Amino acid sequence: MTPSGTGHGEALGPSPDAGGTAGRESWTAAWELLLPTASAPARARGRALQAALREAVRTGRLAPGTRLPSSRELAVDLGVSRGLVTEAYEQLTAEGYLRSGRGAGTWVGDAVRAARPTAVDLAPRPAGVRADFLPGTPDLSLFPRAAWAGARRGVLAELPHHALGYPDPRGLPRLRTAVAELLVRRRGVVADPERVVVVSGVAQAMTLLGCALHARGIRTVGVEDPGSPEHAALFAAAAVGTVPLPLDGDGTAMGPLRASGVRALVTTPSHQFPSGIAYSARRRAELLDWARAVDGLVIEDDYDGDFRYDRSPVGALQGLDPERVAYTGSVSKSLAPGLRLGWLLVPASLAAEVVARKRTMDLGNPVVDQALLARFVERGDYDRQLRRCRRAYQERRDTLVSALAEHLPGTEVSGIAAGLHVIAALPERYGPSDAFLPRAAAAGVAVRPLSDYERAVRTGGLRLVLGYAHRSPGQLREGVRLLAEAARDGTTG
Ligand SMILES: Cc1ncc(COP(=O)(O)O)c(C=O)c1O
Repeated sequence: MTPSGTGHGEALGPSPDAGGTAGRESWTAAWELLLPTASAPARARGRALQAALREAVRTGRLAPGTRLPSSRELAVDLGVSRGLVTEAYEQLTAEGYLRSGRGAGTWVGDAVRAARPTAVDLAPRPAGVRADFLPGTPDLSLFPRAAWAGARRGVLAELPHHALGYPDPRGLPRLRTAVAELLVRRRGVVADPERVVVVSGVAQAMTLLGCALHARGIRTVGVEDPGSPEHAALFAAAAVGTVPLPLDGDGTAMGPLRASGVRALVTTPSHQFPSGIAYSARRRAELLDWARAVDGLVIEDDYDGDFRYDRSPVGALQGLDPERVAYTGSVSKSLAPGLRLGWLLVPASLAAEVVARKRTMDLGNPVVDQALLARFVERGDYDRQLRRCRRAYQERRDTLVSALAEHLPGTEVSGIAAGLHVIAALPERYGPSDAFLPRAAAAGVAVRPLSDYERAVRTGGLRLVLGYAHRSPGQLREGVRLLAEAARDGTTG
């Protein structure tokens, strides 16, 4: 059972003197460190548990004031004897890491508070920045280090020597099978493992597709406006230009798409980046009709498709016509962008070209990393990680939305049903963006306007793209307060 289980859910609340939900968050983070102790040799198990608990407190994964589960509950969850847990609690209480309350209960003590930063502060911040709302990064402190380390040990123990040779450039069969199964189940795609190409992120998938399209004589692709500036840069690397295409309420507007003459379109239909809309069923069907009519291709960037909060998941467009849609995603939002691991489901007509390009580009992704991710997916660790992140991000999103309502009343928030950021349209009284943004910067608030992602010049009030996944609820509240201060300084009327 994990911290998300029903076993000790009630026991994990912070003590009365701990702040908000910090206790639950920090216990979830610490759980990763404790799990491996259960599989330590029996003689060393007690020491391993004590060391892991100490480490969790020292590194801030267990925040001061977090209430620990009862020794009985933790023993059941870890599958160790209750005596072992009691002994560990007593030992760490004696050392000052833990404290026991009146009656029942054990909490993380305050003694080591000054010695180390909290877990969320370990995330890098731009220098001089007091509040960081820059979008695009997940909470890197949620990376499941212990499970990942365990999977690496397992992989190194089981990989035969011959598997360390040059891999199939499409990726290890084991990972392609695991990814196909995962995406069919979670995203409703049609995925034959033979058609999966393991790539180093969505970025590489775009470049590979750009090369394949270029080889077919295609020199321009349509991109969404607003959209990710990365798309244009990546296609440019393949000598393919981009045509920005406006959105309407359903997705990429069909009139401008048809008029543009392009035969390939890059889209983010499940959660448009950055506006946050989900393409309507009608627009999805229209896009596929268009692709068939021009003998073209839709490129589906499912960059954060796993994070849905209030509505049922929107299945991938690729599932409707796998021969007209190239689908790509990665672990960048779910695990960490630094892993540089992702996937591309490629239509039959482009498969040979894409694989040939992948071979000449890098001869395939590192084998150990691929085997590791395969094992991680096969054993359910990936699903667990997604559940854990989704819980944390949903809470942060809710915190951000309610802080905006409190401190910046009148702000219209959209694109909140999914993803790692929201769009906040500020009321006009806060002034134009060329005045507001320098005030925010001077107040130490790193924030990006929607106009940074727009190619066409648009009129209207100031809209901000506020990333929230990488900040704790407390940091988000404080950030919105600072933002509101900066906004008030320029209030008109
Ligand atoms: C819309 C969008 N697509 C793709 C990427 C790049 O993803 P990857 O790290 O998988 O290359 C990003 C990065 O943040 C993104 O915002």
